[in-house]
Amino acid sequence: MELCASGNKVYVPVFVVVFSIFLLGVFVYNEDLKLITKFSFPWLHIHEMQEVPMPAFSSSTGNPDLLTAEKVEGDEDVELLPRDCDLFIGKWVFDNATRPLYKEDECEFLTEQVICMTNGRKDSMYQSWRWQPRDCSLPKFKPRLLLKRLRNKRLMFVGDSLNRNQWESMVCLIESVIPKGRKSLNKSGSLSVFRADEYNATIEFYWAPYLVESNSDDPDVHSIPDRIIAPESIENHARNWLGVDYLIFNTYIWWMRTNTAKVLRGMSFYEGSAEYDEIDMPIAYGRVLRTWSKWAEQNVDPRYTRIFFNSASPVHDNSLHWGDPKGIKCSKETAPIFNASIPMGVRTRQMFEIAENVTQHTRVPVLFMNITPLSMYRKDAHTSVYTTRQGKRLTPEQMADPQNYADCIHWCLPGLPDIWNELIYTRILSDP
Ligand SMILES: *[C@@H]1O[C@H](CO)[C@@H](O)[C@H](O)[C@H]1NC(C)=O
Ligand SMILES: *[C@@H]1O[C@H](CO)[C@@H](O)[C@H](O)[C@H]1NC(C)=O
Ligand SMILES: *[C@@H]1O[C@H](CO)[C@@H](O)[C@H](O)[C@H]1NC(C)=O
Ligand SMILES: *[C@@H]1O[C@H](CO)[C@@H](O)[C@H](O)[C@H]1NC(C)=O
Ligand SMILES: *[C@@H]1O[C@H](CO)[C@@H](O)[C@H](O)[C@H]1NC(C)=O
Repeated sequence: MELCASGNKVYVPVFVVVFSIFLLGVFVYNEDLKLITKFSFPWLHIHEMQEVPMPAFSSSTGNPDLLTAEKVEGDEDVELLPRDCDLFIGKWVFDNATRPLYKEDECEFLTEQVICMTNGRKDSMYQSWRWQPRDCSLPKFKPRLLLKRLRNKRLMFVGDSLNRNQWESMVCLIESVIPKGRKSLNKSGSLSVFRADEYNATIEFYWAPYLVESNSDDPDVHSIPDRIIAPESIENHARNWLGVDYLIFNTYIWWMRTNTAKVLRGMSFYEGSAEYDEIDMPIAYGRVLRTWSKWAEQNVDPRYTRIFFNSASPVHDNSLHWGDPKGIKCSKETAPIFNASIPMGVRTRQMFEIAENVTQHTRVPVLFMNITPLSMYRKDAHTSVYTTRQGKRLTPEQMADPQNYADCIHWCLPGLPDIWNELIYTRILSDP
């Protein structure tokens, strides 16, 4: 699994909402409208990260004021959203009438890492928050509708363990409508494939925490201290992405461990020895994303393939950031942050801007999924001590020691990643 061996702690200097880590993790984002002429989804905007606009919290179980949504009954119909609705500005609404969208024990493919209630978590409110964009409402998630869109198609998450978190969520969101025996999950090396037989559709996850090649690409054994990146080498991974209809990328957390990145001299890894240079992390990050961008331009046909790029999934490792000196990382949190203005960490912001810039300059459309601000409020939604470490459920002793063992990077399921998928769903269904 992806917990670092030997308890190597990762100190993340400037992250605002958070973070010292000893796990692994990761992530990113993006958007671009300039080149998106063929299909329009202008409601996907990056908004100013300095202040996260968040109208007062509301707690209601009833109907939110739906500002939009031309609704039609039936499976075939999609609720159309106004073009100028920014899905990423909004608020969290407590809504245990419609949430969660599935239950832990209803999803046969969930891994032990994310089933927090089964792992002993007592509070469950974290499962019942709905994201309410300010200017419109997300359409109801209809698994069959999505499956119809995915008929004879492949949807693939590519990146680190946060994208795997989201992939697990997506599998659960749709698998409930597929009878037993007509679906399967095949994990093989870096690639995990969920298949819905009757639709000939797949929901896949490809492990590539830096997107480009590195010496940490082994899906099982990658907790090595000297992580070395080959910023211009992507082919070995990318040939697995060819021809996929929906690609959802991220790369983030692994970049937060240190201020510099170890970058391979030369193009590829040779057995044993690897000479490297140590360069500033943002410079290496830019090089990697430009490699990725070039790959997309040369290999993705926008007539057939949609590309998404996830922005950073925030970490909540320091309770002082939400004004609670008595907190222990995220371990005591049972409610979201209600403070409307949480600044983003300097470093995260720096990476955010690099990714924004690169994706906007990519000459094929890339949708930047700006999930960072909305996720920053969710200090309550992490797996904390209700999870696994190196593939094993935490022992009672470890659970009693959140300072060392709470995972405030990954998220419980059902939970926050379901909302990220609702945003992806909205986008896919809005495609002509
Ligand atoms: C929803 O939450 C309210 C307030 O916490 C509680 O009284 C009610 O029983 C809950 N309903 C469901 C269906 O869980
Ligand atoms: C099933 O899906 C795959 C992958 O998208 C596609 O290449 C293939 O043509 C599909 N098979 C049929 C029978 O349509
Ligand atoms: C799982 O995937 C691997 C690699 O693609 C393949 O060799 C194997 O046959 C698959 N297993 C099943 C049960 O489909
Ligand atoms: C909200 O957070 C900001 C920035 O951390 C802080 O300055 C402010 O005091 C907080 N407001 C409240 C009401 O907690
Ligand atoms: C934005 O990206 C373009 C192309 O990748 C690059 O030429 C430019 O220097 C970048 N600008 C900034 C401010 O990073």
